[in-house]
Amino acid sequence: MNITIEQPHHAAAIDTLLDNSFGPNRAGKTVYRLRENVAPVSELSLVAVEDDTVVGTIRYWPILIGGVTPTILLGPIAVDSSLRSGGLGAQLIRLSLNRASAAGWRSVVLVGDAPYYSRFGFTRDLTLNMSLPGPVDLDRFLALELVEGSLSGVSGMLGRWPTEPTPAVRVELAARQNAGAGAGFAADRRLLNAPA
Ligand SMILES: CC(C)(COP(=O)(O)OP(=O)(O)OC[C@H]1O[C@@H](n2cnc3c(N)ncnc32)[C@H](O)[C@@H]1OP(=O)(O)O)[C@@H](O)C(=O)NCCC(=O)NCCS
Repeated sequence: MNITIEQPHHAAAIDTLLDNSFGPNRAGKTVYRLRENVAPVSELSLVAVEDDTVVGTIRYWPILIGGVTPTILLGPIAVDSSLRSGGLGAQLIRLSLNRASAAGWRSVVLVGDAPYYSRFGFTRDLTLNMSLPGPVDLDRFLALELVEGSLSGVSGMLGRWPTEPTPAVRVELAARQNAGAGAGFAADRRLLNAPA
């Protein structure tokens, strides 16, 4: 099995995997408001491919907290039902979080099941002063600091990444450049060979 950066030709298979995993009405969820007309973070959006079939996907979107603090929204993530509980979900999450950290992102937020995401360090405690632009079960509103203290004092509503860079976004992009974001990761490079 290979885990690689998602390419345009994977899109249809990813949609099928997501529909099978979440149902066709998944786009009605509040988090999808944050993804509208915004491109995912391509260097963090991974697919697991086995025998030319997409069996796992993870994507991230850039967002702003309170209009000023850049972060990334994890999700959706899905693994083909035939391969679940084999560790692929954890591989996709750990690999992408390491890449996010190396790319200079300082925190991650998501809406998902705490019993699953707590093993990666996600906690509700970090989102207590944040809100979402629609209804959501707040117990599922979680965050992780990639840099300790990066969410300290951060509050406000999650919002879409702006089309024009704000000062906060410019600072974030500069930090990512300093961290060497994207360096050495060719789009078609094989990221990981999982044992057969
Ligand atoms: C969530 C998902 C991506 C995990 O992928 P995976 O490859 O099965 O994950 P792992 O093998 O790393 O971990 C499996 C473990 O997580 C547990 N787990 C999976 N989903 C869980 C959930 N929503 N809540 C709590 N535990 C969960 C499994 O029971 C399993 O436990 P075990 O190790 O004690 O058997 C996969 O189950 C999936 O695609 N689910 C449908 C889509 C979905 O719900 N995605 C978002 C989750 S909020």
